[in-house]
Amino acid sequence: MARKKVHFGVIGLGLMGKEFGSAAARWCHLLDDGPVPELVGACDTDPEAVKWFTDNIPTIKIATRDYHELLHSDEIEALYCAVPHNLHEQIYVDIIRAGKHLMGEKPFGIDQKANSNILKAIKENPESMVRCSSEFPFFPACQRMIQWIREKRFGRIMEVHAGFNHSSDMDLSKPINWKRMIEFNGEYGCMGDLGIHTQHIPFRVGWVPRSVYGVLSNIVPERPDGKGGAAPCRTWDNATLVCQVDNQNGSSFPMYLETKRLAPGATNRWFIEVYGLEASAKFTTEDPNAFVFLETRGKEQAWSRVVVGHKPMIPSITGSIFEFGFSDSILQMWASFLQELDGKEPLFGCVRPEETHLSHALLTAALKSNRNNTVENVTV
Ligand SMILES: NC(=O)c1ccc[n+]([C@@H]2O[C@H](COP(=O)([O-])OP(=O)(O)OC[C@H]3O[C@@H](n4cnc5c(N)ncnc54)[C@H](O)[C@@H]3O)[C@@H](O)[C@H]2O)c1
Repeated sequence: MARKKVHFGVIGLGLMGKEFGSAAARWCHLLDDGPVPELVGACDTDPEAVKWFTDNIPTIKIATRDYHELLHSDEIEALYCAVPHNLHEQIYVDIIRAGKHLMGEKPFGIDQKANSNILKAIKENPESMVRCSSEFPFFPACQRMIQWIREKRFGRIMEVHAGFNHSSDMDLSKPINWKRMIEFNGEYGCMGDLGIHTQHIPFRVGWVPRSVYGVLSNIVPERPDGKGGAAPCRTWDNATLVCQVDNQNGSSFPMYLETKRLAPGATNRWFIEVYGLEASAKFTTEDPNAFVFLETRGKEQAWSRVVVGHKPMIPSITGSIFEFGFSDSILQMWASFLQELDGKEPLFGCVRPEETHLSHALLTAALKSNRNNTVENVTV
């Protein structure tokens, strides 16, 4: 029997837009019998980016520089929008009001006001399913961590550390781009770019910060402008948030969320570590196939490391002993989105709009905390 297709358009065909183009092209990898995404529309203001799509994806029927063309097409049911942060509010709201489903990108609005306006549009158009992208939880070894959290294997949680660290900005000759410019990236700086990635699992399992103390650093205030001169770099490079979390069982614990652009040696280090009285565990994309854990026994404890292999949430054709990587996590994230679109509840789902709202409350409080050197309540 022919499988159901969901016709997609993509707005913003850069780094992330192309990842979706490629993931959709290898849907045969999955052993899921749910709907298949078919890309029919592609939009970018840069003709070179559009050309990559029309050259590589034969199903594209509408290739355009004006995203409204995709909104007006009856053939398109869902859109992925991966554009700079200053454009999120306008384009996401337009997509939702056009009655299309949306996978948006973080931070899901350049600031709290933009995010609230997007959420208002979602509330007014409940027929559109809206989610925000975040792929790292879909690594099988990280899924093992989520399973342990859900099974309450950690006992009383003492501390959680989650972070996303990069190092390419350590190269001071690297020219500035939109992600380092406050007008395109927003006042959150590194927190807006990297923060939702660190918050997805904690928020989903109910670890909601009650308060935050934020320490933000702008370490490199100027960067090459790419034209032989220098440009101001006013975005925050590094951020450490110390959060007080109320656990559902009445206990509370500190949660440290770090997002850094200047983390020596961290090419793309996303991690989560949970420390509990009965057990502790760690996952990092620097050792992407391993789940590292410890079960508390007596005075001394020893860490164990198991290589989980290719055992993803949504089964695939890849042998279970093989390695799992970034593009596999993107494919799993999209498969999870498609399952939800099909009315099913995946084992682990993409970031929900209300979680982006919480993220903005946290990041806005962190900005205030850093400005005033205070501990701020996180109020949604
Ligand atoms: N999920 C992730 O892991 C991840 C990784 C990187 C970036 N992102 C997010 O994805 C989004 C895009 O980031 P990117 O790294 O792909 O950026 P990018 O610069 O590589 O791509 C953005 C694209 O948007 C296009 N664009 C700009 N204005 C447009 C308009 N009006 N209409 C259509 N296209 C337009 C640009 O020409 C560019 O091709 C951001 O929100 C970013 O935070 C997510």
